[in-house]
Amino acid sequence: MKLWTGRFKKEISKTTNDFNSSISFDSRMYREDIEGSIAHAEMLGQCGIITMEESKDIQQGLKGILEDIEKGDLKIDMEAEDIHTFIEGELTKRLGANGKRLHTARSRNDQVAVDIKLYLKKEVKEIEELVKGLIRVIANKAEKYSGTVMPGYTHLQRAQPITFGHHLLAYGEMLLRDLSRLEDCYKRMDEMPLGSCALAGTTYPIDRNITRELLGFERITNNSLDGVSDRDFCMELAADLSIIMVHLSRFSEEIIMWCSWEFKFVELDDAFSTGSSIMPQKKNPDIAELVRGKSGRVFGDTMTLLTVMKGIALAYNKDMQEDKEAIFDAVDTVKMCLTAFTPMLDTMRVIPENMRKAAAGGFINATDCADWLVKNGLPFRDAYKATGELVARCIELGTDLENLPMEEYKKVCDLFNDEVYNAISLERCTDDRKAYGGPARENVKYQAELLGEKVK
Ligand code: ARG
Repeated sequence: MKLWTGRFKKEISKTTNDFNSSISFDSRMYREDIEGSIAHAEMLGQCGIITMEESKDIQQGLKGILEDIEKGDLKIDMEAEDIHTFIEGELTKRLGANGKRLHTARSRNDQVAVDIKLYLKKEVKEIEELVKGLIRVIANKAEKYSGTVMPGYTHLQRAQPITFGHHLLAYGEMLLRDLSRLEDCYKRMDEMPLGSCALAGTTYPIDRNITRELLGFERITNNSLDGVSDRDFCMELAADLSIIMVHLSRFSEEIIMWCSWEFKFVELDDAFSTGSSIMPQKKNPDIAELVRGKSGRVFGDTMTLLTVMKGIALAYNKDMQEDKEAIFDAVDTVKMCLTAFTPMLDTMRVIPENMRKAAAGGFINATDCADWLVKNGLPFRDAYKATGELVARCIELGTDLENLPMEEYKKVCDLFNDEVYNAISLERCTDDRKAYGGPARENVKYQAELLGEKVK
């Protein structure tokens, strides 16, 4: 049954109905749709727009529909135009005339807007919890590996020594910002659009604060056109989710590299790895690769939302029905990725010896050697040049700065003495980087604890 009978003489064609219908993807909002309708019916009753008896009858009917859907006794009809049409149709089937009173002072335009917001508010909270779970794992691991020396990279070239804990905490910081972006997004989303009706509000004496309160929104929207045609909350959420995916994707890329035999800094638990159908030796980081790959979907969803919205005149246009698949996909994907990624990281075995070995090659203590000269009176540029010459000499002799004999040091600069060996030891190089935010063990321990506190 269509809602717009009266104006039309013919039934809608099957192909038009299929093309027009959104029930295959908006049926997931049945709870929110019913919740919104119950609040609306209560408000209509309280304001005397319908009688309190009619209101209670409608609310009972809606609760019955909800129960029946949840129990599996009522199947959602995939031929219906959308979830709103289906539930109103079912209510009318059950109640007769009272069912038909529900849509007084309302339109599907404000109804769908309130449904999506109710749905996404719950999802945002769930995603926040998942992000916090990942941050907790990072904080624990960072504390555990606060003294595990590894090479820090720029241009994927060994650069300066850091610790694995310090490296992990960088992701912790990114995810904390992701969390605060979600919290911000939630605040802006927390505006109740019901009462905007089709676009121009209503002449009925409604009280929008009643529905606002019943549905748990912080504020009501201030403009009826905006109330029904705003989807920035979807775009904003998709953008925030995209940034989360960028972070997860970079992290995944590193884990994939670290798992390779060329690095072997870590090994993933068997439960979070896959094998090859032909190569018996293989243990593949498929989860990390999938997370990296799925980032593309979420970026695409964001682009979809921006493009759908960019050219449509106020207020509602059917284009906006395209919002749901995109934002639902972004939400589902991020939840799935976080759910898989967190235990994978949690169970990942770290191999400190290999990190240490990699840190010992590649002259990552060259800056510290130059700094030692500076502390002994040489200007930095001269110290830089002298150390460069030492590195060149090491390469010629096939050795490193730790093992280069003192006479070679002296040939380059006579300020050198045996103390330099101590200053360029990798442990000293990391532990002396005590400036706030640096990789010194005490800093990492402190930051790991702080991070854990923030997501308690
Ligand atoms: N299924 C529609 C959507 O998702 C509901 C709103 C329909 N409103 C309308 N005027 N056709 O956007």
